[in-house]
This record gives sequence, C-alpha cells and structure tokens, in this order.
Amino acid sequence: MATTLGQDTTQDIPGLTTTRAPFIEAAREHGQLYIEQPYELYNAENHEAWRQLFARMGDRWQRYANPRFLQGVETLCLDPGAVPRLEDVNKFMAPRTGFKAKAVSGYVPAYLFFDSLRKREFPTTITIRDAGRLDYLPEPDIFHDIAGHVPMHTDPAFADALVRFGEAAQTAVHIVKRIKNPDEQVRRTTSIMKAMARFFWFTVEFGLMRAPDGKGVKAYGSGLLSSYGELQHSIESPLVQRYPIQLEWVINQYFEIDHYQPLLFIVESFEHLFEQVGILEDWMKQGKLDNVSPGEPSLSEVDVRSFIEASA
Ligand SMILES: [Fe+2]
Repeated sequence: MATTLGQDTTQDIPGLTTTRAPFIEAAREHGQLYIEQPYELYNAENHEAWRQLFARMGDRWQRYANPRFLQGVETLCLDPGAVPRLEDVNKFMAPRTGFKAKAVSGYVPAYLFFDSLRKREFPTTITIRDAGRLDYLPEPDIFHDIAGHVPMHTDPAFADALVRFGEAAQTAVHIVKRIKNPDEQVRRTTSIMKAMARFFWFTVEFGLMRAPDGKGVKAYGSGLLSSYGELQHSIESPLVQRYPIQLEWVINQYFEIDHYQPLLFIVESFEHLFEQVGILEDWMKQGKLDNVSPGEPSLSEVDVRSFIEASA
C-alpha cells in the first residue's frame, strides 16, 4: 500500500474493479479494445481482493490442480500480495512458450480471440472482482485470466494445443468463405462456432485430466482453477458426472454458465488434447460441425460477424 507521511494515498484512486472502472469505460467509449495496463490505478481494495483470492486457492491448487499448472504458478513467480503486472508475467512466460498476456478493455469477438491464440497472444482482462464478493464473478477478471489460464500457458504441450485451436479458427474462416448463399453462410458459421465454443468450454475452461499416477483426476480448466468452490466440487462431488472426452458428445452438448458444471470431460494428457483439436479441425473440413445440436451457448451477432468478416 502506498503511503505518504503516514497517509493512505490509495483511497482516492478510482480503482480497476470489475464493472466499476472509469478507465475501462472510457477505453470502451473510444473503441479501444487493446489497452495498456494502467497499474497505478489499482487501489488498496483491488490488491486486497487479489491477496485474498490467491491465499485461499493455495491449498486447493495443491490438492486438485494438474501438476503442470502448479509448475506454471511457480514459473510465473506471481506475487501473492498484489495484482500482477502483465509485463512481469510475460517476462517469465514468453521465454517458455512464446505466449504473452495482452491487456483488453472487455469482450473480444470470437474470431479475434481465437486468432490471438494462434499468434500466442492471450487477451487478458485487467479489472478485478469486488473484494467483498470474491465468489461472485459476473464476467472474467484478472484473477480468472492470470491465475486460472496463464499458468497453463507456460506448458509447451498445452500452449501448442491452444495454438492448434487458433489455427482451426482460420480453417473455419476458409470454409465460411466458400459459402455463397448469405443465409446458409450465417447458419453454418453459427453451427461451427457453437461446436468450437463447446469444445473450448469443456477443455480449456472446465477440463479435467487423468492424474499422472492413473488414480483419480486433476483440473486443468481455468474456470475450475480460478474458483475456490467449484475446484473442489468438480473433483469430489458425486453430483458431477465425469467422462472420458468424446468429441461427438462435446460438440453437441449445451452448457450453462451461471452454476457449477454438472458434466465434465477428462483428457489423458495435453498430447491427447492436442490430438482432439486436430480431429475437431478434420471434422470441420468434412462438414461434421455444420449441424450441431441447438442450445447454449447462444452466439452474439458480433461473434458470428467476426468470422464472416474475416473471410471477406
Ligand atoms: Fe476463461
């Protein structure tokens, strides 16, 4: 906490709290998606939120996280007491896999997001949730992105799977480009994107992996690794169904984001995950993603348009 002559100077700083950050509102108003992380704008409450979130995850990560994630947390040398600076995170991450966290002001349209992964850039939210509501997460924040996602990006095999996913988005654009009828173009784009979003959800966001000793499972999905309650629930609760990943099931399975996940899929390794992304892309080329089952996620027009515009 910064002090001058014994006085707390951080109390006047507006802060970078999720949904209450004037800096972010201004950036959005000016149409700036990629921004700098204005580190001096984090106030004492923001750092306190990070400190509490980080402190309570420690034991749960040790028990339930994939070992590569635990190595990643160590590699990044995250400060348990303060919101991280993206430039510090990148100093430790880039030499390992080439991945870099890149600050954004808000939602990144689907194609841009996937294409960033292809370029080994990770769009990163810089706001942090309210310190008084640590469990309530209306949208991604820097704890989800940096403490949940980024430790996995230090692992070369996982990083390669993400890049492969970004390349599959490029393949989707080439397919979309060849469809001449505009209605059919929107319909097929929507179906392909739904399949991709479901795959991403059940792997990168909520994936489980067979434990290295073959006994039980560990989490590698960022949505689990950044949630104190759901991480334990995902591994221990008898209410969760856990199955070896089956692609035809994953791409047709709806999901809802406002409660703990009742159904999760297990991969054997990151090499296995990489292979699954390859099959997803092959199926895309064969037209097998053109008619996936309706239901969540519902895709915004912005997301669908982002693919169609990239193909123009
Ligand atoms: Fe995420």
